[in-house]
Amino acid sequence: MRRITLSRYLIEEQREKGKINADLRLLIEVVARACKSISVAVGKGAIGGVLGEAGSDNVQGEAQKKLDVLSNEIFLEANEWGGHLAGMASEEMELPHAIPNRYPQGEYLLLFDPLDGSSNIDINVSVGTIFSVLRCPEGADPTQEAAFLQPGTRQVAAGYAVYGPTTLLVLTVGDGVACFTLDREQGSFVLTQENMRIPEDTREFAINMSNLRHWEAPVRRYVEELLAGKEGPRGKDFNMRWVASMVADVHRILTRGGIFMYPTDARIRDQGGKLRLLYEANPMSFIVEQAGGAASTGRERILDLRPSGLHMRVPVILGAKNEVERVAAYHRD
Ligand code: AHG
Ligand code: MN
Ligand code: MN
Repeated sequence: MRRITLSRYLIEEQREKGKINADLRLLIEVVARACKSISVAVGKGAIGGVLGEAGSDNVQGEAQKKLDVLSNEIFLEANEWGGHLAGMASEEMELPHAIPNRYPQGEYLLLFDPLDGSSNIDINVSVGTIFSVLRCPEGADPTQEAAFLQPGTRQVAAGYAVYGPTTLLVLTVGDGVACFTLDREQGSFVLTQENMRIPEDTREFAINMSNLRHWEAPVRRYVEELLAGKEGPRGKDFNMRWVASMVADVHRILTRGGIFMYPTDARIRDQGGKLRLLYEANPMSFIVEQAGGAASTGRERILDLRPSGLHMRVPVILGAKNEVERVAAYHRD
């Protein structure tokens, strides 16, 4: 079998399609290396002393786990000296992280959720990392959040790693979606799936059902119709899955289809939703659209949203195109 490592994939993509210049390649390789380090830390678990609470809160008022803090540090350290970045922003930091003066500056901005699915760390269920790459606008100050407030359509690359039974890296540079599997002995990511596609229809949905009583009418109607199964208006039975790590739920959808929803609801309406636009919803929406799926808030395409703040939250409905369009239609009714 021809073995294509991430490095080779990136070089050949550039050679064939001119999609990945040397700086972007370095950026993606550094991110992959950082994900490898996080994967090692996650894998050590209690032996590495990485489980449990960090004893601090992040800017969003969420209790940080040790691994949230550690993963954030791994990303910052790995990415600040290469010369490929103008700045970084993370779920775990209120403000952008400036590249220290002693290092050269590049043209890209990196946004990330260093550890997604924190509630799953201590119970040994898959967690992951999500990242998004933007260009720093000409004349913009990368130490200020304004530089990062760009619509998702401007992303030049996005991806996520899943730390599950295997460690995977899923990547798009706007030319389809590729999946790499970490070969733990060799220490390299190897291409294991190209051109991932999400079927337009599905029989599987993912939503935290415990919030049903707080949902808005369109989402409630949609899910009630799914639950009605064969005898209901949809005329077929639906299955439900909820890992509670967005990376794992989205990865399932990229692998075997489905629809994922974290809609807004009465509890969280004031903050806009649960998931964060710049480092959760946007990169995942880019990937999902590149795989033939759709991503919406119910009212708008996620990638078209104009961010109002680094940690802005939005409703997220993504996956099988026909299902996402149906939910959007119920919002219009
Ligand atoms: P994070 O761990 O980065 O804060 O994100 C957790 C998110 C997401 O991964 C997941 O889909 C969702 O929170 C789970 O929320 P519930 O606990 O409400 O199900
Ligand atoms: Mn997250
Ligand atoms: Mn996180």
